[in-house]
Amino acid sequence: MSDVLTQALKDPGFCQFHTDRTVVVDWDAETGWSGGSLEPYGSTVMDPASLVFHYGQAIFEGLKAYRQPDGSAALFRPADHARRMRRSAWRLAMTEMPADLFTRACADLAAAEDHWIPGALGQSLYIRPIMLATEPQLGLRASHRYRCTFLAYPADPCFGRDFRPISVMAAKDMVRAVRGGTGEAKCAGNYAASLLARGEAVADGYDEVLWLDGVERRWVEELSGMNVFFVWRDADGVRLTTPPCQGTIVRGITRDSLLTLARDLGLPVAEEPTAIDDAVEGARSGRLVEMFACGTAAVVVPVGRVAFDGRDRTIGDGGEGPVTARLRQALIEVQHGVRPDEHGWLMPVPGDGATARTTTER
Ligand code: COI
Repeated sequence: MSDVLTQALKDPGFCQFHTDRTVVVDWDAETGWSGGSLEPYGSTVMDPASLVFHYGQAIFEGLKAYRQPDGSAALFRPADHARRMRRSAWRLAMTEMPADLFTRACADLAAAEDHWIPGALGQSLYIRPIMLATEPQLGLRASHRYRCTFLAYPADPCFGRDFRPISVMAAKDMVRAVRGGTGEAKCAGNYAASLLARGEAVADGYDEVLWLDGVERRWVEELSGMNVFFVWRDADGVRLTTPPCQGTIVRGITRDSLLTLARDLGLPVAEEPTAIDDAVEGARSGRLVEMFACGTAAVVVPVGRVAFDGRDRTIGDGGEGPVTARLRQALIEVQHGVRPDEHGWLMPVPGDGATARTTTER
């Protein structure tokens, strides 16, 4: 085993080590889809006139393969990631990759790079498909050529495996998305749009920016790369809420999995708007007992502090609450095949490095 592989398996961090190979899929208006075979990882030379550099046709996904109890590996909800990638492509006027091509590329890569998949609970092989407009052309129009490259990395959750609580500051002057815009798409521009506000939050001592809606600047939306949940306590017990998908937040697959698992566990949960003032006031009064962020890269991370407009409140005792811990545990156990996969979320990766030929359209 190479030194790099040994180190990567021992302490992967978040995508600090890329694997040896990628899968590359091309689309051309004249010839359609081609490629899909494994290639050595390497730099790509692109024409500086490629449309992606000028007009931003760039979308991506993030999904994971997890080690299973019998030593095999399984992808988590690849068909749902394929569907979301198609929707992102649609919004950016890009060609929609057939779902079976997407899932096959992920399965082939995970199978070939199986030896890079770390084994501890919560660790994974993170697969990053990135699709770019590669046609050189300065006229403003959709590209006639795209390249989708599937990258793979052994990974810990992006905030670490200890799931230490993070702090968030709501953006007051900047907005990320408005209805009818691209907020729901996993396009590169949305992440670029987050960087300045996130940088300001970090400069003020917070870990993340919390986005509010672009019209009233009142309703909580999401973080720069994660969805959010609130846990409220009243006389009837605890209740979870998460902002609804109305075109301005990414339709998180982790978010959706947690909504389902919460219902499975008998926890009342609703997709409903939360005003930032209610969150801040709820933290002060004790009605907001927990808040957490979730995403494929982050998994489930407690939010210990929320700030807005000069008010800074600790949520609960600032540590991780029991609902957050319980949901994360349930999710990780399903992902690793330790808890029954009642919703058909796992797709086995062929264990012998052979090419997977599984179509996972559901
Ligand atoms: C993911 O959670 O997979 C993402 O794509 C978010 C990114 C900011 C790491």
